[in-house]
Amino acid sequence: MAILVTGGAGYIGSQICVDLLALNKDVVIVDDLSNSTLEVVENIELISGKKVHFFQVDLKNKIELDLVFRTFRFSEVIHLAGVKSVNDSIQNPLEYYSQNILGTIILLDCMKKNNVKKIIFSSSATVYGVPEKIPIAESAKTEPINPYGLTKLAIEQLLNALANANKDLSIVILRYFNPIGAHESGLIGEKPLSKPNNLMPFITQVAMKEREYLNVFGDDYDTKDGTGVRDYIHIADLSSGHIMALNYLDDFKGCETFNLGSGTGFSVLEIINAFQRVNGIHLNYRVVEKRKGDVAVCIADIAKAALLLNWRPNKTIEDMCKDSWKIQQMQSVALAKEEGIIIEKRKYELWIPQ
Ligand SMILES: NC(=O)c1ccc[n+]([C@@H]2O[C@H](COP(=O)([O-])OP(=O)(O)OC[C@H]3O[C@@H](n4cnc5c(N)ncnc54)[C@H](O)[C@@H]3O)[C@@H](O)[C@H]2O)c1
Repeated sequence: MAILVTGGAGYIGSQICVDLLALNKDVVIVDDLSNSTLEVVENIELISGKKVHFFQVDLKNKIELDLVFRTFRFSEVIHLAGVKSVNDSIQNPLEYYSQNILGTIILLDCMKKNNVKKIIFSSSATVYGVPEKIPIAESAKTEPINPYGLTKLAIEQLLNALANANKDLSIVILRYFNPIGAHESGLIGEKPLSKPNNLMPFITQVAMKEREYLNVFGDDYDTKDGTGVRDYIHIADLSSGHIMALNYLDDFKGCETFNLGSGTGFSVLEIINAFQRVNGIHLNYRVVEKRKGDVAVCIADIAKAALLLNWRPNKTIEDMCKDSWKIQQMQSVALAKEEGIIIEKRKYELWIPQ
């Protein structure tokens, strides 16, 4: 039996695929490459020394998706495919509802028709909206304040309703906090095709001098240094949360929700300082107006995942800063080679699969 990973060529999905292949799982990726490239699939195979089955299919294409389901027998689905920018979702709510909700409905329909009963769904801390209490437990109220968060909550509600209606289903919902870092090889990581949404890609672009300044949105929040505090989680820890969730699904029926974060908060200035310290690089930044809808502090309570999934994050903020910088450098080296630019000053270590 194989595992279907939707969005497996993306930032988080590619790391999960590598980890699944390391466990000798048969992995099938469905991804329309709207925010990723085929090179990622090649790099997943390079890192793991194993083959994946890849299908460039849009989840909304019912006929093609059904063909994939009829070609393989899936034990579980890990569903990551979707669009994820809070700002874009405010500009284009129709696209967000269509990509995320319609795509998921078609996927769930294919699962039903093909008798696949286990799914892990990528949700987001965005479903909490403005938290009333820190750290945020899974039982906290869910009141998203943007269309992206609303699509995630709608899918969560649908999954809960399905589990109520069919006692044979096994569903885990994972609410990610702020994933950063990259695979230790520097071969896969966050490579957004469009403008990045998260702090770390902006930091690495400033470090590469592709951007003049990093904008720090507000420095008068009620936090240790006035800048926003977030719960950053290394991509490797996030991925291991999925592996533990797969184990949990082995003998669980119903629908259970877990936070995946580090359980620790770092301010924007702390991240900037850690990045400078670990990588020996100076970052230009400037404080600008707060963004509408940003909250002061967002930190996960991860006790439930520790207890039921037996999962704990291991990586440090230094690992996150080091690995994020490494992939940015590797990308630049690859790009420079392609363009025939000789670069002598940017150093990177070649990672050799063991
Ligand atoms: N990265 C984060 O900060 C974060 C935080 C919380 C939740 N999430 C969720 O995790 C999931 C993965 O996020 P990511 O950071 O890896 O994003 P990503 O954009 O790197 O990966 C998503 C992948 O899905 C593919 N895709 C998008 N729409 C598709 C469709 N209709 N059919 C098939 N493939 C499609 C894209 O090409 C991309 O490869 C998303 O659902 C996202 O909402 C991400």
